[in-house]
Amino acid sequence: MRILSGIQPSGTPHLGNYFGAIEQHIQLQSQGEALYFIADYHALTTIHDAERLREATLDVAATYLALGLDPKVATFFRQSDIPEVTEVTWLLATVTGMGLLERAHSYKDKIARGIAPSAGLFMYPALMAADILVYKSDLVPVGKDQVQHVEIAQDMAQSFNAAFKKEVFVRPESRLSKTPVVPGTDGAKMSKSYNNTIPVFARGKALKKTVGAIATDSTDFTKEPLDPTTCKVFALYSLFASEQEQEAMRDKYLNDRAFGYGHAKQALMAKIEERFGPATDRYEDLKKHPDDLNDVLADGAKRARELARKTTDEARRAAGIGR
Ligand code: TRP
Repeated sequence: MRILSGIQPSGTPHLGNYFGAIEQHIQLQSQGEALYFIADYHALTTIHDAERLREATLDVAATYLALGLDPKVATFFRQSDIPEVTEVTWLLATVTGMGLLERAHSYKDKIARGIAPSAGLFMYPALMAADILVYKSDLVPVGKDQVQHVEIAQDMAQSFNAAFKKEVFVRPESRLSKTPVVPGTDGAKMSKSYNNTIPVFARGKALKKTVGAIATDSTDFTKEPLDPTTCKVFALYSLFASEQEQEAMRDKYLNDRAFGYGHAKQALMAKIEERFGPATDRYEDLKKHPDDLNDVLADGAKRARELARKTTDEARRAAGIGR
């Protein structure tokens, strides 16, 4: 089984990224032939700053390696190191109806948020389909917002195969991560665009400041029970805690009149530091050696490119491109 996913470089990784994607990617690396890449060409639809894009790309690389991606187990590379992906994007574009791309939620959402609709943004799902199809991926672990893009890839594979009467591309299936929505410090879904994130690699004062800012209600804990079902601190704590620990915490919320949100936040902080402390050290160390990071990615690209070249040649032959 070939497992593939792309990660957009987009600044400091936060708990939403971790529980929504990174954790699942790392777990899946040993369950099949895993390919993970940093989607720098996709990022180019929103970032027009070379230095920032390069930096953000290496940030993702360091993040994944620090959190346990093993480049000897998974193939880990830069999307743009595989020129076949852009080649296949064009082959797919020629068998894709405008309507299919016009119906993409993510495109419509971005436009609604005021992002200028470049042709690149419109073609985003075609590039993503090429990412998936060029490696003949079977399984694509993604967040909810990307499921439609995988469906678009299914459609494009089918259209191409039908148009040229050859089974070049394999139908991919998406796989949703099981994690519930990770709440941000303001209670809404944690997202960089909402400015409510808790970074994975934070500690000490910086961590205390972010966790301290998590919104809570004004219940007086000395007089009344706290409600664990609505509390975002509790929800975040639960992501890290065992069943028994969650039960114990719930009991404190309901029955311990010396226990307030400040204490709950301390418990959450301790969990974050325990889980990510060692990875934070590794991350900081990896960031100091950008050449090594680039070497890891270049190595992965060599492996990925062999697969990509094979599929691309098949697709070209089916379509009558080249001699
Ligand atoms: N669009 C995806 C996201 O924003 C990233 C991505 C690019 C991707 N190419 C992909 C994910 C291929 C899965 C498969 O999260």
